[in-house]
Amino acid sequence: MTDDLLARHRAVLPSWMPLYYDEPIELVSGSGRRVTDARGRSYLDFFGGVLTNMIGYDIPEIREAIERQLATGIVHTSTLYLIRQQVELAEKIAQRSGIPDARVFFTNSGTEANEAALLVATNHRRSHQILAVRNSYHGRSYAAMGVTGNRTWSASGLNPLQVAWLHSGDRVRGLLSRLGADEQVDAAVEDLREVLATQTAGDVAALIAEPIQGVGGFVHPPDGLFAGWKKVLDEHGILFIADEVQTGWGRTGEHFWGYQAHGITPDLLTFAKGVGNGFALAGVVGRAEVLQAVPGISFSTFGGNPISTAAGNAVLDYLLAHDLQANAARVGAILADGLRSAVGGLDCVAEVRGKGLMLGVEFVRPGTSEPDPALTNRVFEACRAGGLLTGKGGLHGNVLRMGPPLTLTEEEAREGLAILVDAIRSAAEVAA
Ligand SMILES: Cc1ncc(COP(=O)(O)O)c(C=O)c1O
Repeated sequence: MTDDLLARHRAVLPSWMPLYYDEPIELVSGSGRRVTDARGRSYLDFFGGVLTNMIGYDIPEIREAIERQLATGIVHTSTLYLIRQQVELAEKIAQRSGIPDARVFFTNSGTEANEAALLVATNHRRSHQILAVRNSYHGRSYAAMGVTGNRTWSASGLNPLQVAWLHSGDRVRGLLSRLGADEQVDAAVEDLREVLATQTAGDVAALIAEPIQGVGGFVHPPDGLFAGWKKVLDEHGILFIADEVQTGWGRTGEHFWGYQAHGITPDLLTFAKGVGNGFALAGVVGRAEVLQAVPGISFSTFGGNPISTAAGNAVLDYLLAHDLQANAARVGAILADGLRSAVGGLDCVAEVRGKGLMLGVEFVRPGTSEPDPALTNRVFEACRAGGLLTGKGGLHGNVLRMGPPLTLTEEEAREGLAILVDAIRSAAEVAA
């Protein structure tokens, strides 16, 4: 039983690894966009295991690709031998990355992907100075945590990098939030110049940024900010790392990668989560001269193994064959428009934001910009009670996050929207 499992979980797993919900649930089966818990309750899943079940559950094309690989008897060989699936996937990703003369290094997690990006950037530039963005999340290793601008997720002050912090583009709070979009871009670019002049020794290696901050509650800057930043970075030879762990593969609907909203090409791009649809697959893409700046041998035992890359190829083929980016734009608009018209005007809703199938609702105390995590939690629990799984996030834990599989249908979007609107309206009535 789940209750017994909860006690056993608490007895052997660390307390700093949080569980969702007042009554945590165990998901035991899934199909399409729906999952069922150990008590037999079924849910429409708008969070996809943190944007990771990108195609959905039990998709035949992906299951069969894994089964074909399993049937060969080869689960692991190590990268000391040629891996056909890995080469094929690297070719597809390199070609789609937008990065010229690209090389791809596969890892097991987004953290490791960012760690690898930071490694090659610091080697290439012979500097350990990095620019990062406030309210960011890049992972749980020392370097990835070191560029994470969110106190809740900064579990250690030990940092192999020297980091200077830029403004996030938050439209609700923070020094630049009161400005219009164009003014905000100008102010953030001005801030970058000032940070470079005052907080660094000049020879900075790279700037790392998420096009839409995932853990940070889907905060995103006005389109074009990265272009403003990149112009300044180029004056100094500083590299740009786009962390596309949450924003990649067409999730934003308008582009295949989040960075494309800004009209730039990054020097390095990291990916993870969705591309394995649950299998451990992540990596970094970069120009050959940058990615190959490793003055020693380096490899990852499991990174890009035959199973995970079989999954990755099947996921990418499925995604492209079904044009899921267009689906994210179409179905995401139903959700975004529906949320904006039904709850966007409520006193407790500061912002409905995001792009495609990456949408957040930020909750505040009525009429203020003061975060309301308690209200957010009530909405979150009410969604679950209504049969909808969502996520939470934001610097203050006051953002409801939706990142459903990109295969979400219009009908499912409307079904989930109705649950969301009900949950938000009833929680808002209590708050008023
Ligand atoms: C933007 C971003 N980068 C990096 C990571 C770290 O990925 P992982 O948990 O696979 O190590 C995450 C995880 O949520 C993320 O959202």
